[in-house]
Amino acid sequence: MIEAANRLQTVEEYYFSKKLREVNFLITSGKPIINLGIGSPDLQPPQKVVEAIKEGLLASNAHKYQSYQGLPELREAIAEFYKEHFSVSLSATTEVLPLMGSKEGIMHISMAYLNEGDAVLIPNPGYPTYQSVTKLVGAKPVFYELDAANNWLPDFEALEQLDLSKVKLMWVNYPNMPTGAQPNTYLFEELVAFAKRHNILIVNDNPYSFILNESPKSILSIEGAKDVCLELNSLSKTFNMAGWRVGMVLGDSKHINNILKVKSNMDSGMFYGIQKGAIEALKCSEMWFVTLNSVYKQRRDLVWKLADALNCTYDKNATGLFVWAKLPDSVKAEAYIDSVLKDKHIFITPGTIFGSKGEGYIRFSLCATNEVLEEAIKRVE
Ligand SMILES: Cc1ncc(COP(=O)(O)O)c(C=O)c1O
Repeated sequence: MIEAANRLQTVEEYYFSKKLREVNFLITSGKPIINLGIGSPDLQPPQKVVEAIKEGLLASNAHKYQSYQGLPELREAIAEFYKEHFSVSLSATTEVLPLMGSKEGIMHISMAYLNEGDAVLIPNPGYPTYQSVTKLVGAKPVFYELDAANNWLPDFEALEQLDLSKVKLMWVNYPNMPTGAQPNTYLFEELVAFAKRHNILIVNDNPYSFILNESPKSILSIEGAKDVCLELNSLSKTFNMAGWRVGMVLGDSKHINNILKVKSNMDSGMFYGIQKGAIEALKCSEMWFVTLNSVYKQRRDLVWKLADALNCTYDKNATGLFVWAKLPDSVKAEAYIDSVLKDKHIFITPGTIFGSKGEGYIRFSLCATNEVLEEAIKRVE
């Protein structure tokens, strides 16, 4: 018997990897399943992006290994994008590192900064990968709770009460997934001050800034943030390019160099054509965002209707690709979604996969057409 590494005992197979097997089994056995679980954009990327990758295929250097740091033009395009949309100045040479998705960055950053036994502040509820990667590298998750009563923002008084002596890294994610909460005016300033006070590296994971959000913000816009903060971003949701795997990490050159040390030993540069497509995406005009969000607005109206029909409540000011909805009191999320899957053939994500503070909540994805959402409403009304 060849045993798996001990670290595998610290994590379980990703919830969606397991649950989607069950959902796919139902589909192959003929059930008309509506999947409102996962946030995988079903809309097309901009046409010029697809054209650029097609052209990229024919370039003479397309099939070679590419630079670990990405094409200089891609780094320039990322720096320009941050300047234009977030008013953040970045050196394209030293402060920008393209990645194959921001999920990859969570592992790279953890490998670059965490020793066994270090502690990591992780939001509850929060994206499950923060916790699993922390465990895979032998560090210890320390959860900080987000609460509806505090608009799902960190409670700094509670944070100061925690034993922070071993904390080296803190994950934050605003606009927030799964709750859709936006940062208030002071949040990023408070976080930078907190990071400096306790010598903690804060990473803002920022892939949802452009979905149903009027005011995209970056933690790097705060003065002095680069010393203690990094930001992850991604083209997955902003440009419907989730399968292309294009993300980025941004911050001070000393941090970027540390991450590059990990990345260059683990993978190679992104496919040439994908980088050319990403450059085109980053240059999209305001019209792209307006058009994209007009589709999501219609879908969100329908999801609100669906949530009403299921007797859920939700915050109409929330942003992002999901609707985070509260179940009637004392209804348990997992039992509830299992019953909706069985009786109505609709798959919705239970809030508990994001942590104990997700109990009593469910998350609807906006990655389904109006027709599909109307059919879902019909089934529950
Ligand atoms: C909060 C959060 N961070 C990161 C990711 C990963 O995105 P990607 O790796 O596609 O850039 C996701 C994807 O669902 C997410 O919800």
